[in-house]
Amino acid sequence: MSKIIQNSSRPKYNIGKLADEPQPHLPLEDAIRSRRTVRRYQDKLVPKAKLESLLRQSTHAPSACNRRGWRFILIENPEILEWLYKKGGAAFIPKVKQAILVSYFRHTDNMEWKDREQSAASAIAFFQLLAHKEGIGSCWICHLPPQREVKKFFKIPPNYIPIALLTVGYYPRNMNVTERCVDNEELLSVDYWKFADAPDKDVVGPKLLLKKIFRKTYYFFPKREWLRNLTHKYEKKFHNHD
Ligand SMILES: Cc1cc2nc3c(=O)[nH]c(=O)nc-3n(C[C@H](O)[C@H](O)[C@H](O)COP(=O)(O)O)c2cc1C
Repeated sequence: MSKIIQNSSRPKYNIGKLADEPQPHLPLEDAIRSRRTVRRYQDKLVPKAKLESLLRQSTHAPSACNRRGWRFILIENPEILEWLYKKGGAAFIPKVKQAILVSYFRHTDNMEWKDREQSAASAIAFFQLLAHKEGIGSCWICHLPPQREVKKFFKIPPNYIPIALLTVGYYPRNMNVTERCVDNEELLSVDYWKFADAPDKDVVGPKLLLKKIFRKTYYFFPKREWLRNLTHKYEKKFHNHD
């Protein structure tokens, strides 16, 4: 992998190159450091067989009780992507050509600790890393229409639940990313919570509270596609790989 060192602490990675020259044997640490979320991709489609193989490898991930309850739906129909957007999904969804809906077995043992979501997430993280080495970028999305509507639309049976959507596609050419600076964060404490920045009260700020109320009301409204142009304006927009 071409690794352009700009200065000793923040290397740059040309991850766009991976789309033309996949590196399945890229060291894990390099893959972890250079992977980035991407929301715009090259036009060419990722072959279904390639995605299937990556997903299969991803299911070596840990899962609660080794249940391995993952199910994946590859979406390539633009009308379906448009539906996800219209019903309140992230604004860039209809601009992509491929996405994977990740579902997981619904009746796991330990709902308090959300073991099904945690299990689903572990394979998603594995997938993102494996795909990255092949020059396939992705975006993990949970800004989606309500689960019950997604479940009905995709004809997901009662004993499974949709967890997340992954948009996928080849990295744009010449995409460079700079390694994140993560060293100076207080991350680990021993035996008990001893972090210096611990607030003594659990308070939800008024802005977040308002956002939560708005979100609940919006997703409760069945004809929310009528409001989509309006909500589109206020949605957080990401740059290609921030
Ligand atoms: C659980 C989860 C949910 C996310 N949901 C969204 C989403 O709805 N829309 C979106 O554009 N990005 C979403 N992301 C992607 C994050 O914005 C992205 O991972 C983050 O900005 C860090 O960037 P990186 O993946 O390049 O390291 C999500 C990521 C995770 C792990």
